[in-house]
Amino acid sequence: MSATGLNGRRAIYTGGAGGLGTGATLELLAEGIEVHVLDRDRAKLSALQAQVPGGLRDQLCLHEVDLLDRAALWACLEGIVAERAADVVINNAALYPSKPFEDFTDAELTAVHGVNVEAAIACTRAALPGMRAQGWGRILNVTSITLSGQWENLTPYVQSKGALLGLTRAWAREFGKWGVTVNAIAPGAFPTDAEKIHPDPEGYNAMVLDRQAVKRRGTPADIAATIRFLASDAAGFITGQSLAVNGGWIME
Ligand SMILES: NC(=O)c1ccc[n+]([C@@H]2O[C@H](COP(=O)([O-])OP(=O)(O)OC[C@H]3O[C@@H](n4cnc5c(N)ncnc54)[C@H](O)[C@@H]3O)[C@@H](O)[C@H]2O)c1
Repeated sequence: MSATGLNGRRAIYTGGAGGLGTGATLELLAEGIEVHVLDRDRAKLSALQAQVPGGLRDQLCLHEVDLLDRAALWACLEGIVAERAADVVINNAALYPSKPFEDFTDAELTAVHGVNVEAAIACTRAALPGMRAQGWGRILNVTSITLSGQWENLTPYVQSKGALLGLTRAWAREFGKWGVTVNAIAPGAFPTDAEKIHPDPEGYNAMVLDRQAVKRRGTPADIAATIRFLASDAAGFITGQSLAVNGGWIME
């Protein structure tokens, strides 16, 4: 085991081929973790795979699956945990449509909830029996700075992140007795696809730097460092918490 105790661990990472996920997955692989990335985007999965150094390729397991296809998701998860228990679940995949509340259709609201919340529930449900049996597990729910109430036109997204925070606390209370901790990671503003919803990228970049205490943009390595810590043995007494990774923008 490495100093973090993560070498040889197994992680399920939804949306792990995305903007934050790709960089974080590469760092987790380097830590010695076997990472199962569940993502629907074949091009992003291939791009991730292409960046993995040869010596680490065996640790990366790619699963092209649409998290909204519940039967396919469940079959994928059962296949993973049938081999051996997953030690870490990172519920990270998200949809983030932006428009006024009144313009959202029921189908759009359902899709955001399906990816951002229900898939997290499915992954946790699949991994929990193995974690419980081995007396060790880490569940990490990726929420968002937008929960602070300072962004508009993101109703279903903010709603979903609120649900993830509630699940974090409910699961932490229930699973702690089995050695399973549950925490939320709340990223601030990172320059990924999620940011492309803003109409004025340069102005947005300047605004972010102005608001942050730390005068540089966040990177996937900042998220990876947070995952590494919260997933490590050293964080075993931390559960039910939300850790903001936002350069000191919102201080909770
Ligand atoms: N980037 C930011 O500034 C920021 C800020 C706050 C919170 N976050 C959160 O961080 C997490 C990662 O964000 P990101 O910036 O990497 O976003 P991203 O869009 O780059 O990555 C999300 C990934 O989820 C996948 N995905 C979406 N729907 C899916 C589905 N139905 N089935 C399978 N995969 C699906 C996408 O293919 C993509 O690879 C999200 O939870 C997001 O809400 C990001």
